[in-house]
This record gives sequence, C-alpha cells and structure tokens, in this order.
Amino acid sequence: MTDHSHIDDLDPAVFAQRVPPGFVFGTATSAFQVEGAVREGGRGPSTWDTFMAQPGRISDGSTAAIADDHYHRYREDVALMKELGLDAYRFSLSWPRIQHGGKGGANREGVAFYDRLLDELLAAGIRPMVTLYHWDTPEELQQTGGWMNRDTAKRLGDFAALAAEAFGDRVDQWVTINEPTTVTLNGYALGIHAPGHGMLFNALPAAHHQLLGHGYAVQALRAVGVPGGIGMTNVHSPVVSARDRMTDRFFANVFDTVHNRIFADPVLLGQYPKPPFGSGRLFRALSEVDDEDLKVIHQPLDFYGLNYYMPTRIRAGSPKTGETPDGEAEVMKEVPFSLEPFPEFAKTGFGWPVAPEYLAVTLGDMVERYGDALPPVYITEGGVSYPDARGATGAFHDDRRIDYLAEHLAIVLNGAPGIDLRGYFVWSLLDNWEWAAGFSQRFGLVHVDFDTLERTPKDSYRWLQAVLAAR
Ligand code: NOJ
Repeated sequence: MTDHSHIDDLDPAVFAQRVPPGFVFGTATSAFQVEGAVREGGRGPSTWDTFMAQPGRISDGSTAAIADDHYHRYREDVALMKELGLDAYRFSLSWPRIQHGGKGGANREGVAFYDRLLDELLAAGIRPMVTLYHWDTPEELQQTGGWMNRDTAKRLGDFAALAAEAFGDRVDQWVTINEPTTVTLNGYALGIHAPGHGMLFNALPAAHHQLLGHGYAVQALRAVGVPGGIGMTNVHSPVVSARDRMTDRFFANVFDTVHNRIFADPVLLGQYPKPPFGSGRLFRALSEVDDEDLKVIHQPLDFYGLNYYMPTRIRAGSPKTGETPDGEAEVMKEVPFSLEPFPEFAKTGFGWPVAPEYLAVTLGDMVERYGDALPPVYITEGGVSYPDARGATGAFHDDRRIDYLAEHLAIVLNGAPGIDLRGYFVWSLLDNWEWAAGFSQRFGLVHVDFDTLERTPKDSYRWLQAVLAAR
C-alpha cells in the first residue's frame, strides 16, 4: 500500500499515450481565491470578507482583497490557459458580486464581468465549467443564519435561476455547490473557516441545507433549460482506522459518514446513510429530515464532481493540545477521536500525505457504494501545495508537483472498472489565496508574485503543456 505507483517515464510524449481520446483536461479556481476587487463593481460583502477581517483567523494575517487581481487580469489568465492547451476551465461565480445581499435582481456590473470572462474563454476555445457556490455566502444571508437557515437553500435556487438566464447559453457544465463537507466541518462544526462556528455535530443542518440548495439549484437550471451538463462537487477522503481496534474502527466509520457519506448518499441514492451502530444520537438532525427534502436533493445529474486530496486516519481518543493537524481547531479537543498523520507518505506544504493509491481506493469505494447510480465522473480538483521558490535562472522547478500530477493522473487515466471517468481539473491554475492559510500555500501551475502580481509558469505548467500538445 505504501509503494507509490511510480511513473517510470515522465517524458510528456510517452505520458500522453496514456490519455484516452476525449478525456478533458482543465484547471480550477474559485472567485474569492483569485478575483480580488472585493469592493468593486457593486460587489456585496461575503462571509469570508467578514471572517478574514477578524484578527487571528488567517494564518499569515493576509486578506483576499486583491488576491490574484484576476478581476482585472482575467485576459492574461485566459491567455495562460490557452497557451497551456487546456480543454476546460472551472471557476466559480461570486454570489455577492451578482446578487449584492444574496437576493433580488442581478447587479449588472457583476454579470458583465462574467460575460467578459466567458466570452474570452470561448474565444480561446476553452469550455467553461461554472460553480455556482464556492463558499462566499453573501454576508446578508449569514446575518439570518447562513446555512443553518433553510431559507438560504431557496436563495441558492433563485441565484441559480438568475445565473442560468444570464450565462446559460455559454456554460458547458454547471457545478451547483463545491465541497459542502468543508463548509459544514470547517465553517460550522470546527470554526476554522467562515463563518467560524464551533458547533460540532449541531452543525449538521448546515449540511442538509446546502444539499437542499443543490437540489433547488438543479431544479432551477433545468427549469430555465440550460443546454450545459449539471452536477455537483464533493470532496472524498477514504478513511482508515489507526489501529486494529474496535474503537478506532467505530470512529473511522463515524468520520467516513460525516465527511463522505452524508454528502454523497442523498445526492446519488436519495437517502442519508444509516449512522454507524451506537452513533445515532450524533446524527439525529438528519434522521428527522422530511422525505420531500430528499426528493429535492436526489435529482438526476449529468455528472458527479469528485475532489481528491488525501486519505484520513482516525484514532479513538481526544487529541492533546497541539496534536491536531496544522494546529487545527481547539474545538477538536472536545471530539472523542483524532486525525493521525501518515508517517509512511511524503508530505505536501500543508503537511497533507501524498497518497495517490488512495485516489484508487476512493474510486473503488465510489463504485462499491453507488454502482449504477453514479453518473460520469470528473475529478473536479486535484493538486498540491509546495513552497515553490525561484531558481537561479528565475524559473520555478517544481519537480515534486510534476510527480504528484503524473502519479494521480496515471490512476485516473488507467480508469477503474464501473466508473466512467471523463476528466481531471488541476487545482489550481494560479497560486492563490488559500482560505485560512492565506498566501502561505501555493497550489498553482503558475507562480504568482503576490507583491507585483506577476505570473510565471512553473515547470509543472510546461510539463502539462507538453503532455497536452503530444496527445
Ligand atoms: C478544495 C477547495 O475547493 C479549494 O477552494 C481549496 O483551495 C483546495 N481544496 C485546496 O485546499
């Protein structure tokens, strides 16, 4: 298990032979992480604007007020994508840029920005995959509870209708919501992301309401009759127990349920999973959910978006102070299990294990759990942060990122029986503002100097470019 699927030949021409015809290569970003211009064009504040302004929330004390200044530099960024040879680009709409407070009519200036971006992409021959919700909830909706309030789900449905009318003619694929898992766990349960609540299992309604919002968004997109495909994106992390003990296995199961299953099962199977025996009390909020809601959530999808970064290892027993990964959430101390490191794997800049074999495990789990209920799958995110530094000649020799991409891509390109894998989107095109880690984690194929905003393609960009050209 610990042996990496080493790629013998990174020669782009040889690697390209692995790529099946029609396989889609893309890169992904999200609005808040790249756009900047947070006070321009009539944009309203989001929960992340509020959160990043609170002292101590962002590890390097930075804000996303300028980020990559993509709002002004999108032409240069699309040119970089074109030169890279991409088939598709996944980006998100900033909800408060289009609907100031998350309700009412569209802000024309906000719509105009995405009009320009979409037109630029299409002129470059790049297919747009648009995420409706990538975490930047309009602050006004947060004032009434955000995702703890059922009404926010309806608001997302209305926003989807508005986006469908404005952009439906040009969008190739729609992603309703991105990683509701992360919003629920980091934002509402642990408080390390906006809106910063530490509600532990009491946060589960935030999961349900996001899923409901997904359902309403699909209904709205279908009602407008958009020609593009419709899907959603979940992050999946295969969970293993640290030791061969019943208590570890129990909490591994609980974690798998709360991280993976409660987000994928209702969307693909139309029901919440049965909580592991003995944990029913924790999941009570979901057992009380109305069947009508599950029907809304369980919409036929054209594709399923899967983000994969790493596996999770669970051990029973609360972590001691300072033991949580990345010094995460004090509140974890109240949880009777901890996340263990994987000493057998190399680590990313974030300290995450580099474990491509667990991507294969994830794909296998998907087939086993969802079988025929699984529509075609796109890996809507995969990528790695390293502290890339400029070499003597001015270039960025990010060899480890090339290895990472080659190893993960090889798994996807090999395919897995029972799953129709259609594409892979690298996170990310550009180094950008990595939420609570600020500018400290660089995920880009393209280096961004956060002082001058100069963009410099890294070696990984050149490698992928050569692979794409050799297809
Ligand atoms: C998943 C999220 O969708 C994205 O916003 C984030 O930057 C990456 N993971 C890396 O953490």
